[in-house]
Amino acid sequence: MLVHLNRIILTIFISIITTLSFADSQHSHGANTNYLKTDWSFEGIFGTFDRASLQRGYQVYQDVCAGCHSVQHLSYRNLSEKGGPEFLPEEAKAIAAQFEVTDGPNEDGEMFIRPGRLSDKFVKPFPNAKAAAAANGGAYPPDMSVLAKARKGGADYIYSLLMGYEEAPTGYELDDGVYYNKYMPGNKIKMAEPISDGIVEYADGTETTKAQISKDVTTFLVWAADPHLEARHKMGFKVFFYLIILLTLVYLSKQKVWSQFGSKEEKEEEEAFDKAERVVTEYEGEDPKTFK
Ligand code: HEC
Repeated sequence: MLVHLNRIILTIFISIITTLSFADSQHSHGANTNYLKTDWSFEGIFGTFDRASLQRGYQVYQDVCAGCHSVQHLSYRNLSEKGGPEFLPEEAKAIAAQFEVTDGPNEDGEMFIRPGRLSDKFVKPFPNAKAAAAANGGAYPPDMSVLAKARKGGADYIYSLLMGYEEAPTGYELDDGVYYNKYMPGNKIKMAEPISDGIVEYADGTETTKAQISKDVTTFLVWAADPHLEARHKMGFKVFFYLIILLTLVYLSKQKVWSQFGSKEEKEEEEAFDKAERVVTEYEGEDPKTFK
């Protein structure tokens, strides 16, 4: 029974640890395991975003992707919130002010243009999906708010896709405006390779290789799809800690309660010893009752 209880406690403990360790990584490991592998700082239960990478990633999004892809769920104020790129509030304000936002109607009933504010949503490149598709040879550049979550393979998929442009194999037919990509389902994508070495210039001196730029923008997209990832990880850590303490207490009190009863093995040993003693005394012709 005692051994049993110990085993139950240990099993609970191990299942909690394994559940927590894998709970957050499922979105980055899709069925196709051929994705390029990258070290993501945000993976695992204790993962956090690399702040500098998020800031660079925002720059890449803005300089390169924002011409075609919207991120409609993000507001400029998100850029300075905890757990995100954490730009200073003044920086986020300045970023917002670079954009023109249609507001109104004013007292004359007319719409007007004003500089963006922190409370504004990210400005979209196209007024609607049809206009976006029409400008891109009929293919709609998907909104990036949840792309990292919506696509199997998550971060690994997006990173691989950005790195996966290749010459099509000989004899492979590609229409105009269609490109060959190793990681796009079906290998055909209607987006020209967006990233190349040196396509952006980083203020912090980080090298601007295609791989680095792709990694930064992917990190940004993972945050955009999951702005509360860090808060959730912190909460997970607290729960984890609490459970360890709880299980330790359960274990200790179990030890205490059960120490009052001898273990099964001890009892059996005792019985065996009594029996042997009786046999010996009977053999010697003594009355076991008077044996001292
Ligand atoms: C010139 C416009 C344009 C630019 C710039 C652009 N994209 Fe795209 N993107 C598209 C279009 C169009 C599609 C849809 C392609 C298709 O469905 O074949 C697409 C699709 C994608 C996809 C999704 C593939 C899928 O699974 O559906 C990802 C990821 C992506 N783009 C990432 C980026 C990133 C990151 C950048 C910036 C570094 C970027 N794109 C810049 C037009 C663009």
